[in-house]
Amino acid sequence: MNKSPRALIPGCDDLLHGGDYNPDQWLGIPEVIDEDFRLFDAAGVNTLSVGIFAWSRLEPADGVYDFDWLGRILDRLAAAGKNVILATPSGARPLWMAQRYPEVLRVDRQGRRETPVLRHNHCWSSAVYRGKVREMNTRLAERFGRHPAVKMWHVSNEFSGECLCERCVGGFHDWLKERYRTLDAVNAAHWTDFWAHRYTDWSQINPLDFTLDGLALDWRRYASWQVEDFYAWEAEPLRRLSPSVPVLTNLMGLFEWVDYHKLARQLDIVADDSYPGYVADSPEIVAQAMETSFKFDLLRCLKGEPRAWFLMESCIDGNSVWKPLHLKPPGLHHLEMFQALAHGADGTLYFQWRKGRGGVEKYHGGVVHHTHPEETRSFKEVSALSRRYEQVKQVIGTLNRADVAMLFDWESRWAYRAAKGLPKNDGTMLVRHAVAQYEAFWRRGITVDVLASGHDFSGYKFVVVPRLYLLQPGFAERLKDYVRGGGWVLLTALTGMVDETNLCWRDGCPGDGLEEMTGVWMEEVGECFPETELRVGTVEGNSLGLPLVECVAEGIYSRIHARGAEVLMSYASGWLAGTPALCTHGCGAGRTFFLAADLDRSGLDRVYEAIMRRRGLKGFLPERGLLPPGVTVQLRESDGRRYGFLMNFSKETKCVPVPGSGGRDLETGMPSGGGVKLDAWEVKVLELRMTKPVE
Ligand code: GLA
Ligand code: ZN
Repeated sequence: MNKSPRALIPGCDDLLHGGDYNPDQWLGIPEVIDEDFRLFDAAGVNTLSVGIFAWSRLEPADGVYDFDWLGRILDRLAAAGKNVILATPSGARPLWMAQRYPEVLRVDRQGRRETPVLRHNHCWSSAVYRGKVREMNTRLAERFGRHPAVKMWHVSNEFSGECLCERCVGGFHDWLKERYRTLDAVNAAHWTDFWAHRYTDWSQINPLDFTLDGLALDWRRYASWQVEDFYAWEAEPLRRLSPSVPVLTNLMGLFEWVDYHKLARQLDIVADDSYPGYVADSPEIVAQAMETSFKFDLLRCLKGEPRAWFLMESCIDGNSVWKPLHLKPPGLHHLEMFQALAHGADGTLYFQWRKGRGGVEKYHGGVVHHTHPEETRSFKEVSALSRRYEQVKQVIGTLNRADVAMLFDWESRWAYRAAKGLPKNDGTMLVRHAVAQYEAFWRRGITVDVLASGHDFSGYKFVVVPRLYLLQPGFAERLKDYVRGGGWVLLTALTGMVDETNLCWRDGCPGDGLEEMTGVWMEEVGECFPETELRVGTVEGNSLGLPLVECVAEGIYSRIHARGAEVLMSYASGWLAGTPALCTHGCGAGRTFFLAADLDRSGLDRVYEAIMRRRGLKGFLPERGLLPPGVTVQLRESDGRRYGFLMNFSKETKCVPVPGSGGRDLETGMPSGGGVKLDAWEVKVLELRMTKPVE
């Protein structure tokens, strides 16, 4: 599982550091471009993403191309020894294009064609737009596909959104025909006898009909597939004419509407845009940090196994324009960047290198400000980070190695989003729930690989299945095989309610044989409100050795029946008192757990700690001790090398014990001794001695 990853750019043994560079905005002020080239070296950056929104400079009029300015920039960047990530400009079109060909614009849910302003609003199936993009990408690849500076292709920008024009809706009908073959099969899958919505013609299938939640799910699938299809369309000439340059796009972490697991099959390298918006002075930062770590663990494993990845965009000072303005205090930016490295990234880039003079992002954080370019805090922090990256770059070639997997599926999110009559899902609930399960591991420095349910989880010691509402075909069988073969798995409430067409399982709940596997039947689901007081307590003498605790349920609870399973915890108040809240069941050589309610933090920690202990999972500290509040440690390793990233997300100084024979601070060379002091928002990287394994 821990194959040594190669450098992201062959031959480049540096961590990537740089940002979005828009010389196209400065062609009229050439001295600024000269200054940029001086400042690249002064800041120590090595990688620039170029041309992301440059279409009106590349094709100033229909069919009139001007690539010379870009050629000159690329030549200079090559001469300066910089890596270029060259973009295709389809994220935003020139205004002349929509004026001449209105069909390139999307149609919204109200049936209105979008205005030519804004960006990221092109129709996915417009033949004109596809033609223009294909022509542009072909020309770019012909001219620059073998240019010595060009090390990666950056396809478009942050793909998102849907189009409801006639062509795209017609494409949906074709997509359904291919998936279901007959109208009868679609009627069955979408349960159209509900409210007499039975389709008698394909043209009646209206993606806006939210009353059919199977239809809603299929529309999401189709809209996400359109992104994959468009990406493939863009990538084709790049791959053909520039075969040795990896092709990728910039993702948006846990963005809800594109199935990144599917898109990842076409990405040569995973790259993310990360704007966690850390609120430094509030305890909230710890929850934000855990969610960011969870996201990074998912990105590392997006292709089904851990792989090196990188940050394509981040914000140097906390002013990311579209979010509340929380300026980062000194130190926090380095911590945020090292957090990505800690989870397997081999580089971090900014949006943006230089702030533009105008436009709505002119105040967005940038390495180079409008005035006093080298004297700003941003510039100095970036320069200092370059020097730190030089000290720690030997982490390239190592990755995180996990015994624990958590499963997270996009289709399950969409299916649950379409449901009524279940506790409200505002789009963040499933993520928050998954991160709540993740916390016990994060606080002990236990690595977690976040996988899709379709990935191979058979090699892990413990698998957490947080609220996997929709079960993909074959998943339950693979999970049963895993458990029968000795695996341990924990499922939380609402897992396994529907099949892949969003229809409720009828064989049990959780369905598809998981009721038998867990020995639990989930009958009813409820939601906790502020006035709800639902205590949960441990059953004395339980076989897991769970200590006697009382905690409360928050969020969602369910009423379950133990059908062969042992009850480890039960509800201790209200009308549910005495009914099971946590069950365990032996199955073959393995063991299952079913958690019926969202326990509070202390309850969850006890449950996971007991499982870790029984399962022999090691933490950073002996006996799986908790790291100080707000601190996590993430490990990267390979071939006898192991690095610990010790990170303090709190504003208080923390002392972190370093067990075993300690380690050496990679940057100062100083031995760690038995512990390390971390100031507010500080990060240190230790080379840990391998002679004695970390407990
Ligand atoms: C996104 C985009 C960038 C820029 C930043 C601002 O990540 O890709 O072009 O708009 O947001 O935060
Ligand atoms: Zn369209």
